[in-house]
Amino acid sequence: MSLEELIRNRTAIVAVIGQGYVGLPVAVRAAEVGFKVIGVESNVSRLEALQSCVSFVEDVSDEALVNATSLGYRAVANLGDAPVPDIIVISVPTPLKDGLPDLGFIREAALDVGEVLVKGACVILESTTYPGTTEEFLLPILCERSGLDRGDFLLGYSPERIDPGNPNFGLVNTPKVVSGIDEDSSEVVAAFFGALVDQVVPVASCAEAEMTKLLENTFRHVNIALVNELARFSADLGVDIWRVIDAASTKPFGFMRFTPGPGVGGHCLPIDPSYLAWQVRQRSGQPFRFVELANDINDHMPDYVVERVVAMLNDERKPVKDSRIIALGLAYKANSSDWRESPSLAVVRKLRELGAEVTVCDPAISKSTPVPEDIVISGVDAISGEVDLAVVLTAHDLFDWDWVARSFPLILDTRNVLRGREFLGEWL
Ligand SMILES: NC(=O)c1ccc[n+]([C@@H]2O[C@H](COP(=O)([O-])OP(=O)(O)OC[C@H]3O[C@@H](n4cnc5c(N)ncnc54)[C@H](O)[C@@H]3O)[C@@H](O)[C@H]2O)c1
Repeated sequence: MSLEELIRNRTAIVAVIGQGYVGLPVAVRAAEVGFKVIGVESNVSRLEALQSCVSFVEDVSDEALVNATSLGYRAVANLGDAPVPDIIVISVPTPLKDGLPDLGFIREAALDVGEVLVKGACVILESTTYPGTTEEFLLPILCERSGLDRGDFLLGYSPERIDPGNPNFGLVNTPKVVSGIDEDSSEVVAAFFGALVDQVVPVASCAEAEMTKLLENTFRHVNIALVNELARFSADLGVDIWRVIDAASTKPFGFMRFTPGPGVGGHCLPIDPSYLAWQVRQRSGQPFRFVELANDINDHMPDYVVERVVAMLNDERKPVKDSRIIALGLAYKANSSDWRESPSLAVVRKLRELGAEVTVCDPAISKSTPVPEDIVISGVDAISGEVDLAVVLTAHDLFDWDWVARSFPLILDTRNVLRGREFLGEWL
């Protein structure tokens, strides 16, 4: 039976390597539509949680995991501990190391896949990476490790577009870009993801699919840098940037709303554009100036937030040293517990370097979520004693913003969440 038929009648065995923010929703969805799914996870505490049907990913509830498990989902530590898969999706991290792309996780996953890869099976890379990775980096490792040749197995790339915590768009209703290294691969990748999501968007090559993802993220990164820089100038000019953005957003064409903040975070924006910039420099020797400028502006937003805090305290004749500051929000985005690369970390650490006593509150991050060693998450209800200033860093709905507006003597709101409420303080 061909792999497309196995997909159609749901008898293909699917393995998803990496059960994080990207891999887990794909694995659960594949189980929901009828596949037997092996979720491979190397992190022991994550694996144990999955095996107990406890999800650490907002978009997958514990109930969904229980349901997926009853339908045939199984989390394992090694690909070799499970039946030989027909389709293998790789969703492992692609971080930066010393500012350069680090494909070490993809290499490790590829070595594991090569061990179990059989003729006719299909491998799909989902990790965000620079154009050329699938054909020039992943394919040779798979061939060498498995002893198979190009054409003996299928290989494709399909970037993940999920926006964790987005109530309107999830895995199923976000169109999925698909590609393959040859026609057979493209067709099988499209057939597999076509079974999981409402719409697939085939593109002509893996490099096009890889670049599509980087264009999307670089577009956001650059536009956020634009409004962040404008926010700084607007403060100097005495113009309210938030009202300007609201007004510009009334234009029904040619403008897209982006809002300023304390910087960018998460696994995508601070990292992915640098993959593209690195690749451009490697191939053409040219700097990707938009990315470098956006990195520079966004990376310095935490410094700017700290400057504003210091200036506000100064106006009250208070030094930042020994002041008591409440940081509201550690996660990099609203209604998420993801603190990776969060600009809040830089704000908190810089204020501490200046001698402030900083308490971090984040109701979206549960006590069981591991956080960096120097951070302790407190509940807002535990705040007692005198506070000099609160800085709003994440716009979680879980915060009671009316209470926040009333409760602190001075507030810097970097997210515009206190708009319409009376409070003493300033917006970014
Ligand atoms: N988080 C997002 O919003 C998002 C969105 C789109 C794309 N991406 C991209 O998807 C990729 C994965 O990101 P993520 O957010 O899911 O990362 P994550 O860190 O949440 O999950 C990756 C998981 O892979 C596991 N892992 C690493 N190597 C492994 C191996 N050899 N075998 C088994 N497990 C292994 C890790 O332990 C981890 O749990 C990255 O390239 C990222 O840029 C992320």
